[in-house]
Amino acid sequence: MAQFDDETDRRRAALQAVVDPVLFHSLGELGTLREVRPRGRALEVVVAVPTDAYPEEAVLRERLASAAGADVDVVFESMGEDERVALGLRLRDFDGTSAPPSGPAQGHGGTARPNPFGQRRGGTRILAISSGKGGVGKSSVTVNLAVSLAAAGHSVGLLDADIYGFSAPRMLGVERPPMTVGRTLVPPVAHGVRVVSMGFFVDEDKAVAWRGPMLHKALEQFLVDVHWGAPEFLVVDLPPGTGDVPLSIAQQLPGAECYVVTTPQPAAQRVAQRSAALARQLRLPLRGVIENMSYWRAPDGTAYEIFGSGGGQELAEQLEVPLLARIPLETVVREGADDGRPASIAAPGGEVAAAFSALAERVEALGPARVYRSELKIG
Ligand SMILES: Nc1ncnc2c1ncn2[C@@H]1O[C@H](COP(=O)(O)OP(=O)(O)OP(=O)(O)O)[C@@H](O)[C@H]1O
Ligand SMILES: [Mg+2]
Repeated sequence: MAQFDDETDRRRAALQAVVDPVLFHSLGELGTLREVRPRGRALEVVVAVPTDAYPEEAVLRERLASAAGADVDVVFESMGEDERVALGLRLRDFDGTSAPPSGPAQGHGGTARPNPFGQRRGGTRILAISSGKGGVGKSSVTVNLAVSLAAAGHSVGLLDADIYGFSAPRMLGVERPPMTVGRTLVPPVAHGVRVVSMGFFVDEDKAVAWRGPMLHKALEQFLVDVHWGAPEFLVVDLPPGTGDVPLSIAQQLPGAECYVVTTPQPAAQRVAQRSAALARQLRLPLRGVIENMSYWRAPDGTAYEIFGSGGGQELAEQLEVPLLARIPLETVVREGADDGRPASIAAPGGEVAAAFSALAERVEALGPARVYRSELKIG
């Protein structure tokens, strides 16, 4: 009998270590493993979940079974309101967003809680993807880069800050909005990426006419009220061109690194310079250029440079940053964007997927940007 109890204890410990796929913490940290009861050779496991519509039951069940090394019969029990509120607060503790900031209040319109990405040198690398103009594939690059980083084993968040043309939910095939746990929003996860978009909160066909302070506030909420779970990377899809959003991002994400997406023709490159100039003005480090729609490869293997060539390289030289990728033009990118399966997922062995995973590796290899010290700043 004693032996049996030991075994159950060992299994209980293994189950406590299982990471909740929705909340990004172990059941032990979350305090959501309610009961473990041996039943014959199997285990009956009771787990508390914040909602009746817990979206990842199958994944959690599988993780529990493999941790226990036994058949498990998992019973999901919905939390009561008090428990949910307490869990929401615990999630904020994990993110460091529960306590009011020390020192002078930050931000505008004053959220009392600190923004988890508000430090210039935080634990998360923030990759702001920009472009001089629309339609160059900025969102496609953002989404595929995020998915490739996740596929390489990193924890990744994606903030769709293109409030005028949000597209991340569709491109990633995310249908459910963030889950509400008390007053904390838990983002949905798609292809390993935690996603938050204005698209969850407003209708796609209602143009968002927000500017200035309201916009700033909305972005702040996306940072502060969301349980991001301290990802290694936060990839941000900026609206094209210059405007209020980059300014807000620079204030709220002072550690952001900028990447510029361009197409190969010289005209696009001139436009792309604008967003590079903006990065400099906002004092965000510009890390690299990503050329998209670089060529189309015919079935016989010939590469056709439909939009010209050399624009990305030239821009990179002018800006004195590396050209990090040349992404080919391929139907799978557009199709994948339309049906929620990014090219890196839909055609994992293909040239586009390889280009994006090479991009992810190069971004990782760049390492965090060195922090500018104001006394060292030139120009
Ligand atoms: N490498 C590629 N191959 C094929 N199609 C692509 C490629 N990159 C982007 N596209 C397609 O081009 C269109 C524009 O891409 P995307 O939406 O990513 O651009 P964007 O710069 O974010 O545009 P917007 O300014 O509207 O936000 C989309 O239909 C997308 O599927
Ligand atoms: Mg876009």
